[in-house]
Amino acid sequence: MASFLESIKKVFTAGHKGQILGVDIGSSSIKIVLIEKVEEKVVLRNYGEIALGPRAGVSAGQSTSLPPEKVAIALRDLLKEAGITPRHTLIAIPFSASLLAVVELPDVGKKEFESMIPIEARRYIPVPITEVSLDWWVLPRRRYEEKSTVVPTDEIVKQTQKIEVIIAAIQNEVIKKYESIKRDAQISGESSHFEIEIFSTLRAVVGSDLSPILVIDMGAGSTKLALVDDGIVRGSHIISMGGQDITLALSRSRGIPFEKAEEIKCRVGMIGDEEGRDVAMVAELLLANIMNEAARFSENYEHKYGTKITKIILVGGGAQLKGLGKIVSQNFSSAVIMTGDPFSRVDTPAFLATTIKEISPNFAVAVGIALKGLEE
Ligand SMILES: Nc1ncnc2c1ncn2[C@@H]1O[C@H](COP(=O)(O)OP(=O)(O)OP(=O)(O)O)[C@@H](O)[C@H]1O
Ligand SMILES: [Mg+2]
Repeated sequence: MASFLESIKKVFTAGHKGQILGVDIGSSSIKIVLIEKVEEKVVLRNYGEIALGPRAGVSAGQSTSLPPEKVAIALRDLLKEAGITPRHTLIAIPFSASLLAVVELPDVGKKEFESMIPIEARRYIPVPITEVSLDWWVLPRRRYEEKSTVVPTDEIVKQTQKIEVIIAAIQNEVIKKYESIKRDAQISGESSHFEIEIFSTLRAVVGSDLSPILVIDMGAGSTKLALVDDGIVRGSHIISMGGQDITLALSRSRGIPFEKAEEIKCRVGMIGDEEGRDVAMVAELLLANIMNEAARFSENYEHKYGTKITKIILVGGGAQLKGLGKIVSQNFSSAVIMTGDPFSRVDTPAFLATTIKEISPNFAVAVGIALKGLEE
């Protein structure tokens, strides 16, 4: 892991027309994926990761909040080393810099409805509505609701005829910041798009399964939750704890530097001998907090809609923690727990199979945002 953070793998070639670059600027590292559609296949052309910690005066694996100029330099260095001159680039916007809310509105007809959204959004957005880019989608009813055999009276229909809408907002300042990163990183090219990272993750790891699924992205600084039902995002939540908190706790409890603690955590995880027991002792406490919050978030949804989460997909660097699956299954006993494999949607060279399998969950956002480029 540590060696990979600073390494860039050049898989094939870079930068010609049909290629799409997906960029995930995480708090601890930038991940990039270059893909191309060849006939019906999506082929991986290149990928890479660069740690931001050392550029912010902290260790690799630690969260940073670098100014955009420094992020741009890191991205430019990563692209340079990988030999990529992107033409078409998509950058994921961190969930923490955006707002997603599912709101229930009365069914007042399309025209009125459209004017209602910005007014309604105001209740959820802590900044003036003129300062955000707003997007919204009406959520279709779930299959099992449609199949319900209960015939409601006209009155009940009137009362309950609510429409669920998902509102997505990104502050204009944030978009400007990402545009400046793009410019300073010298990413020219035909076009550049942004998307909130949760949507990228879902595109990369949720297949055609229509049952209720919880996707957990454990990054360095935070853990992002997305609830997908019928293939559509129905809820999201962010927990301000992530992988670095485990490292920090281990470093404190053993009186060792962060780098050493990070190395032990990534190598042995929570299983095995003495070292594993040390990691488990600190990690279990933190993970219990994260899992409790995730369970509360899921239970709210389950109660509201009378359904049950059937699958949990783990992604992000934190998903690689050995022994994590067991802890998650203790909190979600009736769900199938799996680690997301975004590269399974991409044709990768056989000689990289082992490496890619190891790092795959880290690249969910980068692969997902690149795949968006192919859809467009
Ligand atoms: N093998 C491993 N075992 C345990 N933890 C790991 C392993 N590999 C990476 N991690 C942890 O994953 C975290 C980094 O994950 P990721 O790259 O997804 O975060 P990020 O996207 O930079 O952060 P964020 O999403 O919070 O902005 C670090 O805390 C790191 O210690
Ligand atoms: Mg991340």
